[in-house]
Amino acid sequence: MRSLINITDLSVEEIEELIAVANDIIDNPKKYREKCRYKKIATLFYEPSTRTRLSFEAAMLELGGSVLGFSQASSSSVSKGESVADTVKTVSCYADIIAMRHPKEGAPQVAKMNAGIPVINAGDGGHNHPTQTLADLLTIYREKGRLNNFTIGFCGDLKFGRTVHSLITALSRYTGIKIVLISPEELKLPSYVKKDILQKNNIEYVQTTDLEAVMPELDILYMTRVQQERFFNEEDYLRLKDSYILTPEKLKNAKVDLCIMHPLPRVNEIAPSIDNDSRACYFKQVKNGKFMRMALILKLLEVQ
Ligand code: NCD
Repeated sequence: MRSLINITDLSVEEIEELIAVANDIIDNPKKYREKCRYKKIATLFYEPSTRTRLSFEAAMLELGGSVLGFSQASSSSVSKGESVADTVKTVSCYADIIAMRHPKEGAPQVAKMNAGIPVINAGDGGHNHPTQTLADLLTIYREKGRLNNFTIGFCGDLKFGRTVHSLITALSRYTGIKIVLISPEELKLPSYVKKDILQKNNIEYVQTTDLEAVMPELDILYMTRVQQERFFNEEDYLRLKDSYILTPEKLKNAKVDLCIMHPLPRVNEIAPSIDNDSRACYFKQVKNGKFMRMALILKLLEVQ
């Protein structure tokens, strides 16, 4: 039985297969309408979410299955002090697969060890978010036609941004990837990601605080929100929250085929006036996320 806790739980070949299935779902949605009939997904969300939870639910519904779960810890027995282990043992009696988001790093791993059914990490603290990465990879593939040979800039909160950590991990397995890390001093990529992922895999990377200076070399720009919920004090958050705001002015020297990404929600990082720019890809990521989650559910439930 397979789960998805870290993006490296899937091989490069399996990611390729998921992309192929997601593309087939986009082209032939009818073929998939009944694939998960009588199957249930439980979405256990201990942290706020719009896209991730609803896209898991939409994905299962579009496969003909059904959904159950909770969208905040306060409405479950967690508020009475139940452990993650006991909660998932219980949920396994009702559902076929679990998608879990939790503020504590490693909680989905604990769930996997206790569930007896496949568990999908839907974001654990400031650690990982592998299904956002699947959405990102499908978006890059559809926009650029490849997953190798490009320069990608990650901008904003690289310290706490779990989507950044997972996507960097995924990209470190492809060739010709150059990574530009753009952040304030205080929000730099954690050294464990630099050491264990970038250096270990000989990935070329640079660090800077200046977005405009590096703009001309980027093929992809991945903007992120400063993760307020991970800060220890309000003062630091207020000081750092608007470090980078992408405006049409700042895109002046960008490539004409730049792909602008953002996992969303955005707060202030991208001016809404950019939404109509053909280079804006963030709402495409939302769509692609549902199709990749459909492909993932089929794979983990071993549905042919
Ligand atoms: C991200 C997350 O939850 O990590 N959102 C998402 O799932 N698309 C990014 C964020 O919250 O900033």
